[in-house]
Amino acid sequence: MTQPTTPEQPAPAGDARTTVMRSILGGMAAQVVATTTKLGIADALGESTVHAADLAQRCDVSVQPMRRLLRALAALGLCAEQHPDQFALTEAGGLLRRDHPRSLHGFARMFTDPAMLGAWNHLDTAVHTGEPQFAEIFGVPFFDHLAGQPELSALFNASMSQATRAVAASLPDHYNFDRYSVVADVGGGDGSLLSAILTRNAHLRGFVYDTPEGAAQAVDTISAAELSDRCDVVHGDFFHHIPAGADLVLLKSILHDWNDDAAGTILHNCHAVLPEHGRLLIIEPVLPEVVPEDARAGIYLSDLNMLVNIGGRERTSAEFTELCERSGFAITRIDPLPQHVGFFLIEAAPEPVVTPS
Ligand SMILES: C[S@@+](CC[C@H](N)C(=O)[O-])C[C@H]1O[C@@H](n2cnc3c(N)ncnc32)[C@H](O)[C@@H]1O
Repeated sequence: MTQPTTPEQPAPAGDARTTVMRSILGGMAAQVVATTTKLGIADALGESTVHAADLAQRCDVSVQPMRRLLRALAALGLCAEQHPDQFALTEAGGLLRRDHPRSLHGFARMFTDPAMLGAWNHLDTAVHTGEPQFAEIFGVPFFDHLAGQPELSALFNASMSQATRAVAASLPDHYNFDRYSVVADVGGGDGSLLSAILTRNAHLRGFVYDTPEGAAQAVDTISAAELSDRCDVVHGDFFHHIPAGADLVLLKSILHDWNDDAAGTILHNCHAVLPEHGRLLIIEPVLPEVVPEDARAGIYLSDLNMLVNIGGRERTSAEFTELCERSGFAITRIDPLPQHVGFFLIEAAPEPVVTPS
C-alpha cells in the first residue's frame, strides 16, 4: 500500500534533513566564524593562498586544529582548498577581514559574542513570558551593560556601522533631501549614516544624537568625512528629550529595539521638536503580513533577538502605521530600499496637536 501524500509534492527526504540539520548546526557554524575573526585568521589569509602550517604559525595556533578549522571554513563556503592543504578566502570569506571595504568583521565579532548570545540560551523563557532575558543574566538591560564596557560598546557601534553601510550607500539615491536644512540622526551611533547623507547633500547641516557611549566614535567618523563644520554630536537620552532645530529626524534601527510603549515615547519626543513642515524618516525592515516562501531568515532572527535581548520587535507596515498614529504622525510614504539592502524608508508627517478649547 502506498503512503498517503499531501496535494503538494513532498520534498525529497534528504532536503528536509539538510534543512533541519543546517538550522541545528547553525550555532556551531557561528563559532567557526567567531574563531576565524577572533584569531585574525581572515586577516592573515588576506588575498593570498596559504599553507595550513604557515597560517598556523602566523596566527600562533597548532597546525592540526588550524587545518581542521580551515576545512570547516571551506565546507561553509568561506574558504576554498585550492591545492591540498592550501587555503584562500572566498569572496564571502573576504568580508571577515578587518580591512575589506565591505567588512563584516565587527558584526561577526559582536553577534557571536556572549553578550549577544547569552540570553539566547533562555529564548524558551522569553517565548513563554514575552520578556527580554538579558538583565536576568547580565544584571542590567542591554544598553546599560554596553555603557559599562567601553570596548564592547565600541564593538557594538562598529557592528551597527557595518550593518548600516548598505543603507548609507543607497538612501541618498532613494530619498530627496533637497527641502530640508537640518537632519537629526536620533540614536545615530557612530555617525556613518548621517555622514553619508551630508556628504551627498552639501546644503544640509546635521547632528548625531545618542548616549555618550553610543556616539563615542561619531566625532572621528564625522571628522574623517570632513564634515566637522556641518555636523555636531549631541549627547542625551531620547526617552527624556530630543534637541530642537532639525526639520528632518532620522530613526534608523531605533524603534525595533523597543516595545510599543517605549517606542511611542521616542516618537512623542520627536513630534515635540519637529516643525509642522518637518518630517520623520524611519529606516527599518518591514515584516510582510505573511512569511513569503523566499523569506530571508535575518529579519525573523532579528525579531527574536529584539525579544530576547532588549524587548523590542520588528513590525509590519500596519503596526508601524498604528504606532506612528498613536504618537501624532501620519505616514506619507513606505518604500523598500533595493532588495539587497533589506530595509524600508518610512516617511511620516507630524499632525498638529489639537489642544482642547
Ligand atoms: C541598534 S543601534 C542603531 C544605531 C544606528 N542608528 C544604526 O542604525 O546604525 C541603537 C542606537 O540607539 C542608541 N541608544 C540606546 N538607548 C538610547 C537612549 N536612551 N538615548 C539615546 N540613544 C540611545 C544606542 O547607543 C545605539 O547607537
